[in-house]
Amino acid sequence: MSENQSSAAPIAIRLPNYTRAEQDEILGDGDDPFGVAAAGLTWLPKEEHFGIKLGDRLVAHAGLLRLPLAIGDKKTEVVGVGGVAVAPHERGRGLARLVIAAALDHARTMGPQHALLFCRPPLVPLYQRLGWHQLDQEVLVEQPESRLVTMPLRTMVTPLRDNVTWPSGPLRLFSLPM
Ligand SMILES: CC(C)(COP(=O)(O)OP(=O)(O)OC[C@H]1O[C@@H](n2cnc3c(N)ncnc32)[C@H](O)[C@@H]1OP(=O)(O)O)[C@@H](O)C(=O)NCCC(=O)NCCS
Repeated sequence: MSENQSSAAPIAIRLPNYTRAEQDEILGDGDDPFGVAAAGLTWLPKEEHFGIKLGDRLVAHAGLLRLPLAIGDKKTEVVGVGGVAVAPHERGRGLARLVIAAALDHARTMGPQHALLFCRPPLVPLYQRLGWHQLDQEVLVEQPESRLVTMPLRTMVTPLRDNVTWPSGPLRLFSLPM
């Protein structure tokens, strides 16, 4: 058990704000803590934040925001999930599972039928383990200066309601990715 780790079961809470300082508290101040810099993408900040504190220290985060998109010719919205992070010394003990579950509990109150996230290929099995499914089709996302680019990362979705299925068709975000 690490110095900051309490013996009480960790609890995920809604965070009033989440700045770069809070992200650094979890992941350190390295240049590319999510390992996605090579993709060269501009990302949207998240609007709702969930976290886990052990003692005074923030050790995990997941963020949410609503995203407009088209699936085939149907315009709709999803809840985008991003900024999922667990402090290096606390990984492998279920904190990502816990903080994502809290975020998805809230996402179920936001309206859209599905949540969506982008991740590096090595993380696909982890998200599958948490009940997410990979989409195989090309996903277009907006970038600055009105550019539309193909998302180079993997796209994962999970339902937020019972008995909903992901519609078929190409996917196009009407925003930057999150
Ligand atoms: C990715 C990250 C958030 C995972 O955090 P974590 O706290 O270690 O994850 P958890 O311990 O909650 O693991 C979640 C589940 O995935 C499983 N899992 C982990 N690695 C796995 C793998 N390679 N294959 C299959 N399942 C895996 C775990 O066993 C666990 O399932 P269980 O609860 O049924 O045992 C953490 O490594 C991190 O912060 N990385 C740097 C930032 C980053 O890349 N974030 C992702 C942005 S998309």
